[in-house]
Amino acid sequence: MMIKKLSIIASITLGLLAATAISMPANSAEIESLRGSSELDQDSKAPELKKYAKDGEPIARDYVQQPPLIPHKIKGYKVNLKSNKCLSCHSWKNYREAGATKISQTHFEDRDENVLANISARRYFCTQCHVPQVNAQPLVENQFEPITAISGE
Ligand code: HEC
Ligand code: HEC
Repeated sequence: MMIKKLSIIASITLGLLAATAISMPANSAEIESLRGSSELDQDSKAPELKKYAKDGEPIARDYVQQPPLIPHKIKGYKVNLKSNKCLSCHSWKNYREAGATKISQTHFEDRDENVLANISARRYFCTQCHVPQVNAQPLVENQFEPITAISGE
C-alpha cells in the first residue's frame, strides 16, 4: 500500500519536472530586455543622456486619468524628506506667484479617501507619476489614439 502511494507521488513529481523543462526556454540568453543584455560580471553601458524639452505650455492629455506630462525641465529639482522643489511652485500656497498650475484636489486624499489639510504622502514624490519629455523614438510601436471627447477631433 505504502509503496504504491510512494510510486504515485514519484510519477507525479517526474511529470511536473518534465513539464517545467519543456516550458523553460532552451537558452536564457535569447531573452533580451529593451535596454539590451550584459554579462552579470560586466557593467552595462550607461545610456546616452537625453535632451529634455525646453519650458513650454501644458501638453494635451491623452486620457482623463492621465497624470499631466511635465512641460518644463526638472534638472536639479529635489524632492526629499526635507523639501519638495515642485511644491515651491505648484502648492496652493505658491502657485499664484509662480504662475503654475496648482496641484489637484485629489492630491490631498489619503488611500482611505480622507481629505487631508496638506498633500498626501502617496502624492509627495511627484515624478512617480509626472514625467518630463524628450524627443525620443518610441521603444515599441503604439497606435493609441485619445477618444474624441478629449482630443476634440
Ligand atoms: C519654478 C517653478 C516650478 C517648479 C519648481 C516646478 N514647476 Fe511644474 N510648472 C511650472 C509652470 C510655470 C508650469 C506651466 C503652467 C502653464 O503654463 O500653464 C508648470 C507645469 C507643470 C505641469 C503641467 C500641468 C498641466 O496642467 O498640464 C506639471 C505636471 C508640472 N509642472 C509638474 C512639476 C513637477 C513634478 C515638478 C518637480 C519635479 C515641477 N513641476 C516643478 C512651474 C514650476
Ligand atoms: C500617484 C500619482 C501622482 C503623484 C505622486 C502626483 N500626481 Fe499630480 N496628478 C496625478 C494625476 C492622475 C493627475 C490628473 C488627475 C487629477 O487631477 O487627479 C494629476 C494632476 C496634477 C496637476 C494638474 C492639476 C489640474 O488642475 O489640472 C498638477 C499641477 C500636478 N498633478 C502636480 C503634482 C505635483 C507637484 C506632485 C508632487 C508634489 C504630484 N502632482 C504628485 C497623479 C499624481
